[in-house]
Amino acid sequence: MDEAIRFSETVSARLEDGVLVVTLNNPPVNAISADMRAGLLDAVRQANSDQNVRALVITGAGKAFIGGADIREFGQPATEPTLPTVVEAIEGSGKQIVAAINGAALGGGLEIALACHHRVAGSAATLGLPEVKLGIVPGAGGTQRLPRLTGVVKAVELISSGRTVTARDALSLGIVDEVADDPVKGAISAARDQSAKLPRRTGALAVPAEDPKAIEDGAAKALSRARGSEAAIEAVRLVRSAGERSLADGLSDERATFLRLRDSDQAKALRHVFFAERAAAKVSGLEGVEPRKVEIVGVVGSGLMGSGIAVAALDAGYRVIVVEQTDEAAAKGLDRITGLLDRALKSGRIDEAGRSGRLERLSVGSSMEALAAADLVIEAVFDDLQVKSELFEKLGRIVRPETVLATNTSYLDPDAIAAVTSFPERVCGLHFFSPANVMRLVEVVRCARTAPDVLATGLAFARRLKKLPVVCGVCEGFIGNRIFSAYRREAEFLVEDGASPQEIDAAMENYGFAMGPFAVFDLAGLEIAWARRKRQAATRDPSERYVEIADRLCEMGRFGQKTGRGWYTYPDGKRTVDPEVTALIDACRAAKGIVPRQIAAAEIASRLLSAMAAEGNALLKEGIAERASDIDLVLINGYGFPAYRGGPMYVSQQGTHS
Ligand code: 3HC
Repeated sequence: MDEAIRFSETVSARLEDGVLVVTLNNPPVNAISADMRAGLLDAVRQANSDQNVRALVITGAGKAFIGGADIREFGQPATEPTLPTVVEAIEGSGKQIVAAINGAALGGGLEIALACHHRVAGSAATLGLPEVKLGIVPGAGGTQRLPRLTGVVKAVELISSGRTVTARDALSLGIVDEVADDPVKGAISAARDQSAKLPRRTGALAVPAEDPKAIEDGAAKALSRARGSEAAIEAVRLVRSAGERSLADGLSDERATFLRLRDSDQAKALRHVFFAERAAAKVSGLEGVEPRKVEIVGVVGSGLMGSGIAVAALDAGYRVIVVEQTDEAAAKGLDRITGLLDRALKSGRIDEAGRSGRLERLSVGSSMEALAAADLVIEAVFDDLQVKSELFEKLGRIVRPETVLATNTSYLDPDAIAAVTSFPERVCGLHFFSPANVMRLVEVVRCARTAPDVLATGLAFARRLKKLPVVCGVCEGFIGNRIFSAYRREAEFLVEDGASPQEIDAAMENYGFAMGPFAVFDLAGLEIAWARRKRQAATRDPSERYVEIADRLCEMGRFGQKTGRGWYTYPDGKRTVDPEVTALIDACRAAKGIVPRQIAAAEIASRLLSAMAAEGNALLKEGIAERASDIDLVLINGYGFPAYRGGPMYVSQQGTHS
């Protein structure tokens, strides 16, 4: 065999002192294409019959090891050689094959690594089987080989959640054998050392014995989190079966399940979501625009939102300056932030060093002047135009000339806030969702005068926070709250027409929402929407349909869960239908002469989804949202829309409402 050899367009190798180092090169993430499968199989087969090759190393070119099967090929029938064929050849090879996991090893990428006889990961590598996030189960042995290394309990958790782990965690879980600064070097040396030994085949290992109760509990927990995701349910079943039958039986069941799910509606919708997330990163007008440098983040306000934003920024490694109006409020803010960090410590999300490191990077005080050091200042104060305008005016005099100012307003006009400064081009909106340290969505608002590099800074900042930024233009409520208002309006029409709030909630929960709309209204509180309706009353078209029930509820002091009463009542915190509300609804219908009718769950879902899509289309027409898929992402990541349905715009394009 030559020193340098090409097996296919994407697979090449070099021979290093008897070790064939096979490099997969399919930018940007080395996704497994048909060409790569053919080349890799060829490399393994040729190496097995080549006397000059003592052992093999498989690695990826660039940043990734292998980012998984090529998702773009999922719409087409699988061509030979399939991934299971390649994986079987790797595991069955008579010569040692070592995976040098230089970066992300995901999905089929990890399945290839699991079939290798030894695994060396680079310290920055990430590993996982995220298939359920695409509505499928691993299709090349993941559900059968991972539990042989980690045990069933851990494999159930990892595969049903699709969570990725770091190289260090993978080492302690037994997924990899070594972590090295230079994984290729480490793998070559391991391959040499072990070339005389018999390959250790993962598939031949016994699944470690575990307490049946722990398996039962782990599976029950995973199933309760699956919430309608068929893939997660199937993943639990397949992993559990690994300990109960032969590898061959497990693999054939896994493959059949993978192929069936790959063509399912849920998988198609989740592929749409996957590509929607990548598309959202491509914002028109920002091609080639560099974000400003942000090292120090200022946050004004340390209530629920401000403290959540501060923690998210600390998590991302920023220095954070939090400013409150008084020393007393600052002390409370510090307590809130420390409380959030303590909770993260208790749950194991951060360790003691992580907690103290974050506190070292944090300062909380009542002097606005401290914000002169910040590169980006986010205000998270009370949502009132006067309050925010005064604050921005003040900030304008304190911050440096290159500092970006962001408002976290939900409903106010950020252009009006920007206008009080002498530099509206340096202002954008960063609309976080509560709790800001947990929720993934950030609406990045492009105001009328926002400069491209300022918008790019907002996006880069949100991305560094590991959030999903979606750019939107200025309108009342931006993308999410505007669609949510349309959803609320239609839900109230449905009540007036004859459906009860609990029937509507049940219909939407059955559709896949974690909570139905009325339960959400009660949780969020009814007073903000009431205030908005009062604000809009003077300009409302009198011929427009208007449901008064929510106003009556507020007049009765029923502001939702926090007051113990809203659309429901909450004795002992438990959501319960209240006859007083039922009577109020009856009276409001009667006052308008409406004869209530029974409305089926399918019609409820269909009307609510159509209302969302119609509002979404209006947002597209007005240029508030750049593309329909951005709207889907907002609803999925900020409002509990089930990801496996693809979002309201996707649903309306497919014409499938139930
Ligand atoms: N197939 C096809 N394209 C992929 C891909 C994949 N598996 N993974 C990423 N890409 C594409 C993206 O669409 C994007 O394309 P674009 O530039 O045209 O928009 C480009 O690669 C870069 O992707 P990201 O922007 O996401 O790059 P990052 O560097 O931020 O992240 C990553 C890299 C962590 C690998 C991330 O892309 C990722 O998580 N990918 C998906 C991983 C995955 O789900 N794999 C499982 C696939 S299913 C499978 O393997 C089935 C098997 O069991 C048989």
